[in-house]
Amino acid sequence: MYTQSFNVPDAPDGKTVPLAPSKEDAALQAAFDTRIDADGRIEPQDWMPEAYRKTLVRQISQHAHSEIVGMLPEGNWISRAPSLKRKAILIAKVQDEGGHGLYLYSAAETLGTSRDQMLEGLHSGRAKYSSIFNYPTLTWADVGVIGWLVDGAAIMNQIPLCRCSYGPYARAMVRVCKEESFHQRQGYEALLVMMTGTEEQKAMVQDAVDRWWWKCLAMFGPPDADSPNSAQGMRWGIKRVSNDDLRQKFVDATVPQAKVLGVTLPDPDLKWNEERQHHDYGRIDWNEFWETVNGNGPCNKERLATRVKAHNDGQWVRDAALAHARKQQSRNMKEAA
Ligand SMILES: [Fe+2]
Ligand SMILES: [Fe+2]
Repeated sequence: MYTQSFNVPDAPDGKTVPLAPSKEDAALQAAFDTRIDADGRIEPQDWMPEAYRKTLVRQISQHAHSEIVGMLPEGNWISRAPSLKRKAILIAKVQDEGGHGLYLYSAAETLGTSRDQMLEGLHSGRAKYSSIFNYPTLTWADVGVIGWLVDGAAIMNQIPLCRCSYGPYARAMVRVCKEESFHQRQGYEALLVMMTGTEEQKAMVQDAVDRWWWKCLAMFGPPDADSPNSAQGMRWGIKRVSNDDLRQKFVDATVPQAKVLGVTLPDPDLKWNEERQHHDYGRIDWNEFWETVNGNGPCNKERLATRVKAHNDGQWVRDAALAHARKQQSRNMKEAA
């Protein structure tokens, strides 16, 4: 659901991958380049440069990790949702995020990395996930704002991924984007209802917007000038729109929505620029962003510990499923004999 441009390096694993193909691979490389240049799709059985494969595994697994870690801050509110209707909607949304994780882990598995390897990367703290989930959800309004702004930013980021050059990733994103659209709308609608309520409820919405706005702008990743990997991602047809362009689209789309909602976006420099035909906006605190990416945000440790515990607590389910599958298999073999 959520991206931060997905080109943040994971912690080093001690291996190096050559960026240039060997001479023997030159013909295969040429065929790959031709297909990429023609805007064609690369499928799992196709030859691909190791650096392309590695970039995709890192990006798709970071994306998958973001989906399942993203279940945690909102999952905390399922038991405290203000009505049965809101609880049902929130359960459906959180389940969707789990499903997104599954599509994405499956897409990454087609590149030769097992789910166990990817989860080990996440649980050991080596692999990254979107830094947005390392902030707390303090009130019910946070759940609405996450839907409106965080899922809204995710849609901006993910629609271009439906045209990603790697087939399984692109196809997974088509369904994910449809579900993200529901996530964005349910959040915005919940906020619209709160804004017709008491002064206290309105203040709660404004407070949540104030706390999440800048973090959502940072979700698009560092400025283009500081994103050296972006050009290669663009060349490979993995990344279609630059971080700054996506961020600008998000700002332009969100300003009128904030007006309808009746909240103020917390940026004194936010104003329409007639010449550019876009909104100008203020400076993002990248120090805070990198601190959080590197493990020092307010909830990093809590999120990771909760995720590891959930995985360990689910061991009996995996064991039972495997035992059942083995029993089925031996029964089938006996019948076939
Ligand atoms: Fe999602
Ligand atoms: Fe979502």
